[in-house]
Amino acid sequence: MKLSFSVKYRTEVIFLKRISDLWRDVDGVDICFLIDSSLKTKFQDLPCERVYYFSGEKDKHLSKAESCFEWLIECKAGRKTVLAVIGGGATTDFGAFVASVYNRGMELVLVPTTLLSAVDSAIGGKTAVNFVAKNLIGSYYPASKVIIVKEFFDSLDMKMIRSGKAEMIKVALLNNGRLLEKVLSGEDLLNEECISLAIMEKYEIIRSDVTDTSGKRMVLNWGHTFGHAIERYSGAPHGLAIAAGMVLMQKYSAYLGYRSFPYEELEKMLKLHGIEHDLLLYVKDSKWLKFIALDKKRNLEEISMVYLKDSGCAGVINRNLNDILKDLEELR
Ligand SMILES: NC(=O)c1ccc[n+]([C@@H]2O[C@H](COP(=O)([O-])OP(=O)(O)OC[C@H]3O[C@@H](n4cnc5c(N)ncnc54)[C@H](O)[C@@H]3O)[C@@H](O)[C@H]2O)c1
Repeated sequence: MKLSFSVKYRTEVIFLKRISDLWRDVDGVDICFLIDSSLKTKFQDLPCERVYYFSGEKDKHLSKAESCFEWLIECKAGRKTVLAVIGGGATTDFGAFVASVYNRGMELVLVPTTLLSAVDSAIGGKTAVNFVAKNLIGSYYPASKVIIVKEFFDSLDMKMIRSGKAEMIKVALLNNGRLLEKVLSGEDLLNEECISLAIMEKYEIIRSDVTDTSGKRMVLNWGHTFGHAIERYSGAPHGLAIAAGMVLMQKYSAYLGYRSFPYEELEKMLKLHGIEHDLLLYVKDSKWLKFIALDKKRNLEEISMVYLKDSGCAGVINRNLNDILKDLEELR
């Protein structure tokens, strides 16, 4: 006997202006809050006592998830309890993971507080904790609601804004739609229309491959092989490290003889949005290279790397890890 079925999901994305607008509909709702601890001061008036503060990337691991399950049990949380996760991508990845496995799945609402988490981490259902390698343990568990509150972005520094913009430029180039026109025009991407476009264009890519199995969603990994290694080595914000990884991947694919979108043009586009060239200095230093081997996408010694052939068209290069390391030493 053969059974087949498809899993569809629906996420509602809502934009609010002020943080206080978040509390409008909370009265009487069975809800627990998991909040990025750096935002504590913004939540003095939180109308709820079931709050768990989470300290970001360094806490994004399994033992912290255990402590969070214990807290949920103390809160008497059940399957219908809403877990509202408020924070950057590290917090939303972690909170979504916890929600996906507690009681085999509880109601999940994400409130991304960085631009990157609004356009990327909170969108598309990937949850994760770090274990041995970054994001090695996780699940697919899309939030039923994503609430974007513009006021949160006011306290982000320029690096964090640029990190989010870099991810918007990535998705724009992969999709070659309206967002790319905005990117090319140099318009400031930090507005509701561009954020909505980035979200819709990411959905456009993933909707036929939610669980990353057919290869369609994989294009979003453009820049990740080198970007994750640069992120781990340098501690640069995720989007900025991925941007450096994208530029290096374009340079590398051309070096290998592939027809690819010119890296100089990509650099120019990034620069137009304040993503400066000096970040790309990482590519001149070889110490980060050893982190490539730790990337979870490593399949034995062969690594699949996404590059951009042209706007709207990505390709994959499979190459042996040792060859990549040798090539990069030559390329620098
Ligand atoms: N699930 C996915 O599809 C996906 C996609 C991309 C990235 N990610 C993950 O997202 C994480 C990176 O997310 P990130 O770039 O948002 O970083 P982050 O969550 O690590 O936050 C960066 C810093 O900003 C602080 N912060 C959060 N909101 C703030 C605000 N409004 N004002 C001031 N400071 C604020 C945080 O406390 C932290 O110190 C990584 O763990 C990455 O693996 C997941």
